[in-house]
Amino acid sequence: MNFENLLVTIENGLATITINRPKKLNALNKVTIEELNTVFEALEDDTSVKVIVLTGSGDKAFVAGADISEFAHFSAEEGGRLAKNGQEMLFDFVENLSTPIIAAINGFALGGGLELAMSCHFRIASENAKMGLPEVSLGVIPGYGGTQRLPQLIGKGRAMEMIMSANMISAEDAKEYGLVNHVVSPEELLPLAEKIASRIMRNSSVAISAAIKAINDNFKDGINGFETEINEFGNCFSTQDFKEGTSAFLEKRKPKFS
Ligand code: COA
Repeated sequence: MNFENLLVTIENGLATITINRPKKLNALNKVTIEELNTVFEALEDDTSVKVIVLTGSGDKAFVAGADISEFAHFSAEEGGRLAKNGQEMLFDFVENLSTPIIAAINGFALGGGLELAMSCHFRIASENAKMGLPEVSLGVIPGYGGTQRLPQLIGKGRAMEMIMSANMISAEDAKEYGLVNHVVSPEELLPLAEKIASRIMRNSSVAISAAIKAINDNFKDGINGFETEINEFGNCFSTQDFKEGTSAFLEKRKPKFS
């Protein structure tokens, strides 16, 4: 797969997507958002891909935000459309992927960059990472789900403070807040992502997709996540993976999932 602003590798079931606009600190312009949508749609259809890792190129930034130069002159209507299209094409799409996706935050994750990381199923970070939603310093609010996902992840009070102050927090603080799960040196970041990915790949990808759906449904208006869990739990019993997983346990061997 060839893209203007992305590097994509697929190896042993692991797809690694690197956002590649280092001179602009990997800021999300229109082309990059479209390319990300294209690649996620393709990976979602590729059953050989078991885990996705998303990171940024260079040693300075994961993503320093939406590309400010593209929207600085927008009207209210255009601004609204920017947020709606972006949420539908990328941020909601990523959150609802049935393939597990890990954000490996290797530097600044600001504005749309942190919003993209928060759309991923979970996050790990390097010690030099800095995270924030600085939109109010530009006279606007987060528009790619930041006002919703940040409070879900770190609680309302901390989210209010981060968004109102526009301050960046360190990787260590992000870990304490529960925004990232692990913090390691920059050199250890991708190896850690691969190690976690290989642990995930040992398990049933069918069951993992069902778990992602049930967990996400907890946060959706008008949907009862407990009901989703009951349905998805029941559905698992008719899968080959369930037969294999339970047989392997009873036969004291490792399961071989399809
Ligand atoms: N949109 C567009 N361009 C961006 C960008 C963004 N969100 N973030 C960085 N860039 C560009 C800069 O304009 C600069 O381009 P130039 O070399 O052509 O002038 C280049 O990336 C490098 O950034 P620079 O500001 O020189 O790096 P720095 O190390 O001094 O500062 C940051 C790093 C992240 C603190 C600073 O770039 C920044 O505040 N970026 C904007 C963050 C933001 O508000 N994001 C939310 C957007 S909604």
